[in-house]
Amino acid sequence: MIFRQLFEPISSTYTYLLGCQITGQAILIDPAMPAWERDLEVINGLGLKLVYTLDTHIHADHITAASKLKQMVGSKIAGPSLDKLPCTDVPLYEGTRLQVGSILIDPLHTPGHTDNHFSYLAGDRIFTGDALLIDGCGRTDFQSGDAETLYRTITQKLFTLPADTLVFPAHDYQGRRVSTIEQEKTRNPNIGNRKGLEEFVKIMQGMKLSYPKFIDYAVPGNKACGTCPPDVPENLQQYCESMGVSHQG
Ligand SMILES: [Fe+2]
Repeated sequence: MIFRQLFEPISSTYTYLLGCQITGQAILIDPAMPAWERDLEVINGLGLKLVYTLDTHIHADHITAASKLKQMVGSKIAGPSLDKLPCTDVPLYEGTRLQVGSILIDPLHTPGHTDNHFSYLAGDRIFTGDALLIDGCGRTDFQSGDAETLYRTITQKLFTLPADTLVFPAHDYQGRRVSTIEQEKTRNPNIGNRKGLEEFVKIMQGMKLSYPKFIDYAVPGNKACGTCPPDVPENLQQYCESMGVSHQG
């Protein structure tokens, strides 16, 4: 499989490119609006054709490039079936595999950060969105988040994957790129080292995180599969503008 981890610096989002060497088909997981031209440049440079975009959840910190990419190259928009978004072309279900050439993707329902959050398992790697981060996990204090649910998702679903499964999160704010299930099981300060449910909930409730500055625009924008609302203020316009083409990530 052809594989690239791409970084969008405005929201510190990782986008993942998976390409089939045989058919030349490619998918992007969690493409971000400002980086759509860069993503297409990378895809074209590898001689691939984008056929699907997959989002892990309705993001609150950036707007997906799913619609923009569909408009530019005709890729299909795939995402969690539970979101029931009318703009989704291919709703994904846990237990129903998505095949793109030789790439096999198993969608897993991984709620807790949001109720309909999905992770995507592709062979030896899991794309965990905001459910499980490197040395952390997504916040659970807004957007239908629930700490107890996230605890069950991580301990009963993600931590039961093979220990060497590579963990690729949707974000990292310190330049870390990849982890493993074993590493998070043993070292994750929120939930690793066999932390109990009560301790995890206490940690999540004690985070005192600020209100996400783009959430009021990102959520409606992502419910429309990547449409920038018309009232985005000047100081947040960078989330809606293309950062152009440059090989970052
Ligand atoms: Fe998120």
